Parts: sequence; structure tokens; C-alpha cells
Amino acid sequence: MKKQRVIGIFDSGVGGLTVMKEILNQIMDVRIVYFGDTARVPYGNRSTEELIRFGEESIAFLIGQGAEVIVVACNTSSATALPVLRERFNIPMIGMVEPGARLAVEQTMAGRIGLIATETTVRSKAYSSAVSRALSKGSFPEDSILREAWQQGEASISLVRAQSCPLFVPLIEAGLSNSAETRGIAITYLAPLQAACIDVLILGCTHYPFLEPVLHKILGDNVLIIDPAMAVVEELKALLKRMEGGGAYGPVLPPSVLVLGKKHWRTRYYVSGDPGLFRQVGNTLLQEPIDLVEQVTPGE
Ligand code: DGL
Repeated sequence: MKKQRVIGIFDSGVGGLTVMKEILNQIMDVRIVYFGDTARVPYGNRSTEELIRFGEESIAFLIGQGAEVIVVACNTSSATALPVLRERFNIPMIGMVEPGARLAVEQTMAGRIGLIATETTVRSKAYSSAVSRALSKGSFPEDSILREAWQQGEASISLVRAQSCPLFVPLIEAGLSNSAETRGIAITYLAPLQAACIDVLILGCTHYPFLEPVLHKILGDNVLIIDPAMAVVEELKALLKRMEGGGAYGPVLPPSVLVLGKKHWRTRYYVSGDPGLFRQVGNTLLQEPIDLVEQVTPGE
């Protein structure tokens, strides 16, 4: 029987659940250990030094729980701490930024990419660098007209506007994703991106896919909303294949099939803050039962 790899996922809070959900939907034979650093959320205005320390503690904890691959399901950590974390741990790691930028480059039809993210992610300029890297590595828009024009130097493809959205994470963590207040704030945050005539919008924070319906209503059908998690899953599939030396990954059993606390588990949840709040908000957001959440303090 094929070995079930254990994937360790961490984020500042419930945001990484959006990535976990895509992994569970698309990859059958994996187990997930999830850590949400809810005692220290938000990460969005933390310094690089803090994010490195938090990342080290989270990864050491996840490795202690049997993780064989780490998904840094936090754009803020991916944009700042990931290169250092890769040097410090001998374990495969996948971040959010490179896959997300590549997906945006592949999907844009007008070459006008927008980003919403935390303050730290925006300030790092990691996404604009990653867009340039994706282009120089040969990722091209699927749209052939833009591809040809770009190759002939007659069109540009770039991140034209990045907007930080500091109020989104606290609202989502409080379970207010669909409130009137959140909708009003979203209108304000998205206005400069609409003015910049973007045609794709990268959700550069793993919390934001929970706002997708709200954002789509404001932006309409002319802006394609990109969740980097989709590209992260592709990268994870390829990595697992390399680790196994081949094998197919496809659609799967619901997470509830493997029961937590029994021998056959599929997901395990740990948080540094209040387990009850995480369970409550996570259940509402995922619409799937999160049965048991344990409180831990990594680094102690
Ligand atoms: N969900 C994380 C991200 O992708 C962190 C957000 C925060 O804690 O501010 O950036």
C-alpha cells in the first residue's frame, strides 16, 4: 500500500484552512497536521525577524508531529521568512508567493495584475519580483494574443497595483467574513485596483478566499480572482510524485472519513490560542466538522 505522507501546514490562524481544503479536495493519500498561531495573529504587520522566529517554532512543532513536507500557508511568512526557513530546515517546503504569481501570469488577458495582501507582504514586493521571475522563467499568459504581443515587446505584463487590507484578517478571524462592515471595507480597498483596470486579482493572503463571494460581487465578472492555493496544490502533487517516484493523485474521500483520535486520521488541528474560537470559526468557514483542536505553545 502507498505511504500516506504527512503534510504540515501553518498559518497565523484560520487562513491556512483555505489551502488545506484544496489539498484535501485534490490529493487523496495525505494526512494534514495543521497549526494556527492564533495567539499571535495577525502576522500582517510583523517584522521579518519575528516571522522567521514564528516560522521556526511552527515548523519544528510540525516536524515533531511527523510532517514530511511543510506548506507555508501564509503569504506574509512566504514573502519574508521562507528563504531563511528553507536554509534552516532540511525538509521540502512550499510557499504561496511563487505559485500564486505564476498562476496570475498564466491567467492574465490584459497583463494588468492586481494584488491584495497584508501590509508586510505588500511592503516586501515579493509578488512583483515573483511575477518578473515567472516571466523570465518562461511562464506566459495562456491567451495567445497577449503572449505574442508580450514576446515581441509590444505588451507589458506586470503587477500594476498592490493594496494592503489590514482590516480583513481580524474580521475573518472574528467570523465576520460576510458582514455589512466587511463588505463596506472591501469596497474601499478594491477601489484603487478597479481604477488601475486590473484584469486578475491575486488573493495574496490565505485568509482572503473566505471573502471570495464578497469580492466577486464588487469586482464583477471582468476581473478573475486568483487563489494561489490552486497552484500550491499542483506544486505539492508534483513534489509528492517525486518523493514517491511516480503515482497518480486524484479526487478524494471527504475529510470526515478518517476520524481524528482513532488510528486512521486525516486531519489534526493545533492552535496557540483559543481552540474553541478556532473550531467555531473554522467550522463555519469550511462547512465541515473540525472535531478536536488542541492548544499548544510551540517553542516552549
Ligand atoms: N494568512 C496569512 C497570510 O497569508 C497571515 C495574515 C495575518 O495574520 O495577518 O498572509
